[in-house]
Amino acid sequence: MNEKKTMLSGIKPSGDLTLGSYLGPLHHWPKMIEEYDCYFFMADLHAITVRQDPAALRRRTLEQLAQYIACGLDPDKCTLFIQSHVRQHAELGWVLNCYAMFGELSRMTQFKDKSAKNADNINGGLFTYPSLMAADILLYQPDFVPVGEDQKQHVELTRNIVQRFNGVYGDVFKVPEPYIPKVGARIMSLTNPAAKMSKSETEDTGRVTLMDDPGAIMKQFKRAITDSDTERCVRYDPDNKPGVANLMTIYSTVTGKTYAEIEQEFDGQGYGKFKPAVGEAVVEILRPIREETQRLLSDKSYLEGVYRAGADKASHAAEKTLRKVYKKIGFVAR
Ligand code: TYM
Repeated sequence: MNEKKTMLSGIKPSGDLTLGSYLGPLHHWPKMIEEYDCYFFMADLHAITVRQDPAALRRRTLEQLAQYIACGLDPDKCTLFIQSHVRQHAELGWVLNCYAMFGELSRMTQFKDKSAKNADNINGGLFTYPSLMAADILLYQPDFVPVGEDQKQHVELTRNIVQRFNGVYGDVFKVPEPYIPKVGARIMSLTNPAAKMSKSETEDTGRVTLMDDPGAIMKQFKRAITDSDTERCVRYDPDNKPGVANLMTIYSTVTGKTYAEIEQEFDGQGYGKFKPAVGEAVVEILRPIREETQRLLSDKSYLEGVYRAGADKASHAAEKTLRKVYKKIGFVAR
């Protein structure tokens, strides 16, 4: 029997999707739906670990669904759903909390970063976030979890939880592999190449969102930080020229050109030509996505149909795993 492998990933609707969200994970996903049995979701349960404005959260969740479809995730070929519609996530999340250790949760870089940035709201959910993420993953028994570099640690923790759980109860969960793209796994802010381009940081002025119009995108690229190098040469050197390296990564991911080809293309031309060229390439790749998202957002009943059908399909698969887990740990069946 030649069964399709399974893949799953999600994005938090905690801010408007950025070029980082797109180039890191999202633009790889449509290529996967032909080959794998894929689940993609809007991680709204995760978004509330940081305070959200309710109306904005609702708007961004639906916008994100429209963006998934606009990027090429055909709902007839994969399962698209809203995390809070599938109650098994919260249920398995609780169970896995009891198999995730305080020490390992305390070591999560994202917990440390987010606690520092939200010192007035270091809530329990922020701390146990990785157990819920492990539940998201394990409910669907995926082979691969495509994520950007910053989520690798959480997938590794998921693997530890699986090993601990399976060690007690037998082979209940499949051990998932993180799937990190070779180029674009960490797109940095255009104004601060030391920080990742983030959708949820309000003060991040160096981001481009998927809904930005061409004028706004070009403005962002023209003011992108490069370096004060007197030679002003387009060369891939992330240690010494992180701003230029980030722009080259963006250009490479968008155009498919290698770093050597990009160096050759801008040889002797300085940054004056390079920055707008990257901006124009980004404008062209985002234009059809923005237009299709706007079209889909005006068809609320279509989007409703997609997320309802997605929740039904996802719940069916998730319930199978949850039943198995409940039985193994000794809960009485209803
Ligand atoms: P989130 O919402 O922060 O980011 C979603 C995905 O985008 C990637 N990413 C980036 N990649 C490249 N450059 C960037 N600047 C950039 N910013 C974000 C992230 O690595 C991630 O792949 N916990 C997850 C959401 C989640 C999830 C899951 C993912 C919840 N449950 C289960 C996979 C499987 C998160 O906060 O991602």
